[in-house]
Amino acid sequence: MKKGLFITFEGSDGCGKTTQLEKTASFLKENGFEVVTTREPGALDIGKKIREILLHHKGTVADRCEMFLFLADRAQHVETFIKPALGEGKIVLCDRHTDSTIAYQGYGRERDIKLLKDLNEIAVNGLKPDLTLLFDVSTEIAQKRVGNEKDRMESLGTNFFKKVRNGYLELQKENPNRIKLINANNSIENVFSEVKNIIIELIKNK
Ligand SMILES: Nc1ncnc2c1ncn2[C@@H]1O[C@H](COP(=O)(O)OP(=O)(O)O)[C@@H](O)[C@H]1O
Ligand SMILES: [Mg+2]
Repeated sequence: MKKGLFITFEGSDGCGKTTQLEKTASFLKENGFEVVTTREPGALDIGKKIREILLHHKGTVADRCEMFLFLADRAQHVETFIKPALGEGKIVLCDRHTDSTIAYQGYGRERDIKLLKDLNEIAVNGLKPDLTLLFDVSTEIAQKRVGNEKDRMESLGTNFFKKVRNGYLELQKENPNRIKLINANNSIENVFSEVKNIIIELIKNK
C-alpha cells in the first residue's frame, strides 16, 4: 500500500524544524517530486481543535490528558492524511511525529517510555518514517530562537528542554538507521546543506 516516502522533522522548539522543512519542500518540488507538508499536532480539522487546546488552553491540562490528545491527533492524521498521501506516491514531510511524544511526554514529563512507545504504535497503526531528521541544538540557543512569545509547551523551562534534548539523543542512539542527527547550531544554509545530502542519499537508495 505504501509507495511514497515519509520523512519526519524532529527536535526541540526553536531547533529550526519548520525552517528546514520548508526549504526541503521547495528543493524537492524544484526537482520534480510531488511533496506535501504537514505537522503534528493539528494539521487537519479535528487536529486543529486539539492543537488549540494543547498549545493555547489557559487552564490546567493534566499530563495524561495532554498525552492522549497528542496521540488522538496522530491517529487521525495518519489515517486520514499521511497514509493516503503515501498511497498516491507522494513525499510526505511532517513537522513532529512519534519521537516528539517520547522526547516530550516520556523524557520531558518523565512518563513511562515503554508504554508511550506502545501507545504510539496504536496511533500509527504500522506506519514508520523512512527517515527522521533530528535537529540538535543547545537549549540556550533554542530558547533564544523561540523568543518571548511562547505557547503552552514552549513555556516549560530550561530544565524541561534539557530532558527533551537528552531524550531525542537517546532515541537517535537506539535508531541510528532511521534517525539522522544534524548539528542545528550552524547557520540555516549549512544545516540545509546537510539535510539535502541526507535526502538525496535516501532518494537514490529508494
Ligand atoms: N540555523 C539557524 N540559525 C539561526 N536562526 C535560525 C536557524 N534555524 C531557524 N532559525 C530561526 O529560529 C526561529 C525558530 O525556527 P523554526 O524553524 O520555527 O524552529 P522550530 O520549528 O523547530 O520551532 C525562527 O525565527 C528561524 O528563522
Ligand atoms: Mg515549528
